[in-house]
Amino acid sequence: MNVHSIKSGMGKESGDFSDQAENYRKELEQFRKEHERLKLLFHVTRNISKELVLDRLLMLIMDEVKNVLNCDRCTVFVLDNEKNELWARVAHGEKEIRFPSHLGIAGHVAMTGEVLNIPDAYADPRFNRNIDKKTGYRTRNILTAPMRNKLGERIGVFQALNKFSGPFTSGDEDLLDTISVIAATQIENARLYEEQKKTFDSFIETLASTIDARDPMTAGHSKRIALYADAVAQVVKMSPQEREVLRTAALLHDYGKIAVREAVLTKEGRLTKVEYDHIKSHSTYTKNILEKINFSRQLKDVPLIASSHHERMDGKGYPDGLIADAIPKLGRILAVVDVFDALTSKRHYRDRMEFRKVLKILTNGSGPGRILPRCFQKDQA
Ligand SMILES: [Fe+2]
Repeated sequence: MNVHSIKSGMGKESGDFSDQAENYRKELEQFRKEHERLKLLFHVTRNISKELVLDRLLMLIMDEVKNVLNCDRCTVFVLDNEKNELWARVAHGEKEIRFPSHLGIAGHVAMTGEVLNIPDAYADPRFNRNIDKKTGYRTRNILTAPMRNKLGERIGVFQALNKFSGPFTSGDEDLLDTISVIAATQIENARLYEEQKKTFDSFIETLASTIDARDPMTAGHSKRIALYADAVAQVVKMSPQEREVLRTAALLHDYGKIAVREAVLTKEGRLTKVEYDHIKSHSTYTKNILEKINFSRQLKDVPLIASSHHERMDGKGYPDGLIADAIPKLGRILAVVDVFDALTSKRHYRDRMEFRKVLKILTNGSGPGRILPRCFQKDQA
């Protein structure tokens, strides 16, 4: 082997090393990009998986996608198969958009399932310039991707507008495609949750109406109590979860009256002790009946709260004679709004009381150890 061949051999080896180094560098760069992508996806998944209220979820998804794609706007259009429309309940800068599901770029993507990456919106004939004209917004570039559920069915469309650093890239397309699968699953969960909640709410409101309907004089009482209780909840800045518990307990607080004889419930004039005791039993019935309902974990205290609306701070209330703090906090709110509604409404045996007088009675009956005046006993039943 001569010197020349040794040198050329070394040259080949060093060339191999630099090729290998370049490959490693590219692979490393690839890993780094993939790592960043997974981090973003993890971040998006973690954030949107916490939200089950559809409006808030859509808003959250749009914000997340806007940040991840580094663009100015993002809209999630949901497909309404019954009306053949696409709608966006909450869009950045607008309130609600609804249009036939085959129109525009979003409609095209909803129909075909294609991803459309349009670097210059005004150069694309499918772009509807009227929306910009109406809103004064200037669309430069658009990335629109279908949103598919686990079964591969299209349930909506993602539309991102105006990437800050130029047109959307193929990496953005991949990212949006992956996010759309995650988002679609969560949107379907939220829709299911919303449907179940609507069913449950209508069931609770129907139960409340059946009680209110038994006595025309107290018609609307349960709904008014729910309204007043919620007003108090807002003033004291209760959490949405606690407000929901209070509202449900308010609607059902008198449900035990279903077990009270109508002749006693609607009797005009003074009640005998036996009749009054019979009316008082409604709070125990409320608890016993509501305990049979399979409330969610969040609403598990509803029977106890609902049945404690006749307890008194001095322990002379019913059904359990609980004293002060032993009475559930939400039950105490119910007691106050129940008295408020009873006194400001007409009864078989008296007219509605003047608002100022009602406030005075409530003030006098408030505070630890204070008792509500005797005149409430019948009013509150
Ligand atoms: Fe009651």
